[in-house]
Amino acid sequence: MSADDPHEPRDARDGRPHEDSARDPRGAAFYGRRKGKKLRVGQAAHLADDLPQLAIDPGTLDGRPLAKLFPHPVRAVRLEIGFGGGEHLVHEAARHPDIGYIGAEAFLNGIATATAAIAERHLSNVRIHGDDVVPLLDRLPEGGLDRIDLLYPDPWPKRRHWKRRFVQADNIDRFARLLAPGGRFRFATDIEHYAAWTLRLLLADPRFAWTAERADDWRLPWEGWPGTRYEAKAFREGRRPGYYEFRRL
Ligand SMILES: C[S@@+](CC[C@H](N)C(=O)[O-])C[C@H]1O[C@@H](n2cnc3c(N)ncnc32)[C@H](O)[C@@H]1O
Repeated sequence: MSADDPHEPRDARDGRPHEDSARDPRGAAFYGRRKGKKLRVGQAAHLADDLPQLAIDPGTLDGRPLAKLFPHPVRAVRLEIGFGGGEHLVHEAARHPDIGYIGAEAFLNGIATATAAIAERHLSNVRIHGDDVVPLLDRLPEGGLDRIDLLYPDPWPKRRHWKRRFVQADNIDRFARLLAPGGRFRFATDIEHYAAWTLRLLLADPRFAWTAERADDWRLPWEGWPGTRYEAKAFREGRRPGYYEFRRL
């Protein structure tokens, strides 16, 4: 793993409290890395020039329809949480110019990569939240999202770290508030225990229904799936991912 790789939180390996962990006033914590190796000059330039236009100011969201974040009409708005280098986010946004995409990522190097790709492809239907997504979730309007994608969230394999996993009762409540009826929550992981963990929570939740009807519905990726960087690493290391989609009832 390189110093630029956000995929494995440092304290998942050594057990030490993470230097970037921060506690917010509500007691929720962000466990992850905000910085990796020094940005290249080009990346830093994209951040300085392009991020201000792409960035969402959560303070201006209250009560505003999310479609207003985009310069042209969009038929739906989707959120990707923890987009890494933005490969999936950019691919989806390019495929669906009539849908607005909000990408959230706290790791600066990933934000820089995604910002450069969005600018180079002149995508006008993407907005970026370059920070912990949780405070943003609390400011987005009820029923404002048509889909939430959580793709290969940090696995936190050790038992004492399970409480750090993004899929927890409080975040499921947030998703339930934000998704419109019929909206989808997509979850991909290569960690069997995390898949079982998420299924257990979502299957017990009367607000959601798992959409799978046959094994291939969770064994195979979604139509048009471009893969992600983390997924490629999982395949290289011999792990088979699962793709889970839940409908908001
Ligand atoms: C294992 S990586 C997967 C990245 C990407 N989805 C992929 O598949 O390549 C998980 C990502 O989630 C981000 N992340 C974790 N918690 C987050 C949070 N609360 N808000 C925003 N990003 C978060 C991390 O910074 C990291 O880049």
